[in-house]
Amino acid sequence: MGLPPVLAQRLSLPVVASPLFLCSGPELVKAECQAGVIGSFPALNARPSSLLGDWLDEIEESNAAYALANPGAIVAPFAVNQIVHRSNDRLEHDMNVIVEHKVPIVITSLGARPEINDAVHSYGGIVLHDIINNEFAHKAIDKGADGIIAVAAGAGGHAGTQSPFALVREIREWFDGPLLLSGAIAHGRSVLAALAAGADFAYVGSAFLSTDEANTVPEYKQMIVDSSASEIVYSNLFTGVHGNYLRGSIVAQGLDPDNLPESDASAMNFGSGGNTDAKAWKDIWGAGQGVGSIKERLTVAQLVQTLKTQYVEASQDLLGRVLADDVLEPAH
Ligand SMILES: Cc1cc2nc3c(=O)[nH]c(=O)nc-3n(C[C@H](O)[C@H](O)[C@H](O)COP(=O)(O)O)c2cc1C
Repeated sequence: MGLPPVLAQRLSLPVVASPLFLCSGPELVKAECQAGVIGSFPALNARPSSLLGDWLDEIEESNAAYALANPGAIVAPFAVNQIVHRSNDRLEHDMNVIVEHKVPIVITSLGARPEINDAVHSYGGIVLHDIINNEFAHKAIDKGADGIIAVAAGAGGHAGTQSPFALVREIREWFDGPLLLSGAIAHGRSVLAALAAGADFAYVGSAFLSTDEANTVPEYKQMIVDSSASEIVYSNLFTGVHGNYLRGSIVAQGLDPDNLPESDASAMNFGSGGNTDAKAWKDIWGAGQGVGSIKERLTVAQLVQTLKTQYVEASQDLLGRVLADDVLEPAH
């Protein structure tokens, strides 16, 4: 099937910077696109909803001006995320703005709906839908999505529990369209590993939370830098859906991260605090197990350059090993 033209264009790195509730806005998205990776934000971050059109204007104009001023630069396209859940009462309004702006890539999460896919296809856009298992991947494609974002174990925010190797293999048995892999990818070697596993792109979230351009408070940025995988807590308490959060932020709200009560999907209201006073995402900070690879606070351009250097080194190392190990020789 190959990649649709919007995903087939040259990028600095095969990375889509994922949407981050409350944390990604125009500053972050512009910096991501202008560093040559696909940038994105949840439509819900533009508050009030009348701001969404202004944000899209700002990103489009800035990217166009940057491309004009830097003819050799790679400027990547951007994506808008729609939370397709009944608690999102802006869905229709935001879809109209997306269609008006002909947003090239729409990322749908927490629900797959044919009419959303049809609306995006009406102007030539594509839809990538995020899933946590092969069954949901089938449903997404049956309902008309163009590509799949496989959210494996260890991802920041709402996350699955399956191994990325298992998930990608099962999907690739029947789907040869655009496939993105996410879950604890915060190093250039891991970007290469995602491609080696069979994905077309790595989908990276937490690594961007600590960048200068992210709309995250300094304490959150620092906690990302200071934390490692064992400080990530998987709980459904805060939104009704299982997700990964920074242990330190749970403790700071007076909760015991080792004894959190269970919630359930009926409690789900994107951004709610479940049965706690703390507000998910605002007070309880989401992050994936890849935080151990994030050693310092950087600008987006520096982070992308670091990932790129690691990715190139990893590619060279692996190629060297393949050649040295004689695996290219026919079996005797
Ligand atoms: C703080 C935070 C907020 C997130 N908000 C959203 C969101 O609004 N919509 C969405 O589709 N995914 C959201 N995600 C999930 C990411 O899009 C992505 O799946 C995840 O960050 C990838 O794993 P990683 O963080 O380990 O790189 C969020 C993740 C984090 C850490």
